[in-house]
Amino acid sequence: MAIPVSCAPLHFTICISSLVLLLAIVTLADDGMLAETGKKRALFVFGDSIVDTGNNNYIKTNPENRANYKPYGQNGFFDRPTGRFSDGRVIVDFIAEYAKLPLIPPFLQPSADYSSGVDFASGGAGILSETNQGLSPGSNVPFLQVIDLQMQLKSFDQVEKSLAEKLGEHQTRRLISEAVYFISIGSNDYMGGYLGSPTARKLYQHQEFIAMVIGNLTQAIQVLHGKGARNFGFLSLSPLGCLPALRAAAMEANEGGGGCFEEASTLAMAHNSALKTILMNLEYMLKGFKYCNSNFYDWFLDRIDNPTKYGFKDGMNACCGTGPYGGIFTCGGTKNITAFELCKEAEDYIWWDSFHPTEGVHKQISEALWDGTPPSVGPHNLRDLFFGSEKLTISDMVDDQDGGDWRVI
Ligand SMILES: *[C@@H]1O[C@H](CO)[C@@H](O)[C@H](O)[C@H]1NC(C)=O
Ligand SMILES: *[C@@H]1O[C@H](CO)[C@@H](O)[C@H](O)[C@H]1NC(C)=O
Repeated sequence: MAIPVSCAPLHFTICISSLVLLLAIVTLADDGMLAETGKKRALFVFGDSIVDTGNNNYIKTNPENRANYKPYGQNGFFDRPTGRFSDGRVIVDFIAEYAKLPLIPPFLQPSADYSSGVDFASGGAGILSETNQGLSPGSNVPFLQVIDLQMQLKSFDQVEKSLAEKLGEHQTRRLISEAVYFISIGSNDYMGGYLGSPTARKLYQHQEFIAMVIGNLTQAIQVLHGKGARNFGFLSLSPLGCLPALRAAAMEANEGGGGCFEEASTLAMAHNSALKTILMNLEYMLKGFKYCNSNFYDWFLDRIDNPTKYGFKDGMNACCGTGPYGGIFTCGGTKNITAFELCKEAEDYIWWDSFHPTEGVHKQISEALWDGTPPSVGPHNLRDLFFGSEKLTISDMVDDQDGGDWRVI
């Protein structure tokens, strides 16, 4: 930065005023930073087990969709298993911390305080209502097995009402438009909803199925935007075929021939590419729409292939589970098969159980989302979405003055 140090007599007044301006800017910037910490922001979360902080503890579902038993949460950050599908924290816990918010409560937690946001996510949930929907034993009546994206959106209406009662209409509108909406969902549509469903496979080609999933996700974004939401974060899909569970399934199918389940990864990649296109279009169509997208397909693959580069030792096997790669989903012994193995040092692993990463991976994802740059994360990162233009530092603002514009004032 170039602060003018000597003033030619002719320009003396201009020079003085530019210094005054400079001081004013510095003062403004200080105020901006105070405002940043004092401002009321919120985080709303929609999704599946990657970001569920405990909603499934409160619904009738099977043990596969729950994580409120040991050894989930064993690293001791929480004093008991909370329903998070991890050995400790999950992405949204870190994001809340970086955004200086308290932990975001699950929507269904009794008497939860919604004023810093709510987590609607549900383990096993899909974008499509059909995904992992339960059928009551002995009948064809669907029951609540997971809370799909549609239902999560309905719950948002309830939160909106309850906030309006508490904060008033004006404050609620403001909170909704300044909040960040983090959406992490889709894996279950491809795993259980498509690959695991002979009916869906018969009915739909890959492209048709992806179009349906993306179509419903787009509608959900539009619904939220219609309610005033502006800032969105998306977790793209990981290479699904390399999850220990799918690696084990591929091994069975190939009769021992290792490697990832290629069809699952191909679906994830195609989904990500469709999502990327849709988001670029929405940015033009929807007023004020700002987003953070990510490329976690490549990000994950790099860690799976080179775990030691990122502080891990094992990128292939689950810490908790049974069978090849720990890919049989038995972690915790609450499911049909009660025997399971548990590794000694979970922090050495990428995968905590047959489907979910360890806290260490959740943390690295969160750091990338928060601070990342294109092509891995963008066009905005989450820090931008939470703190936006106020985040301009003093030097940013002073450097702006170097353009010569200051002379005009
Ligand atoms: C949303 O998904 C349903 C199936 O759950 C499908 O019938 C419908 O066409 C999808 N909507 C869009 C806009 O793709
Ligand atoms: C577990 O066992 C129950 C009862 O035998 C059965 O209905 C269910 O389908 C089984 N679940 C899995 C995932 O195999």
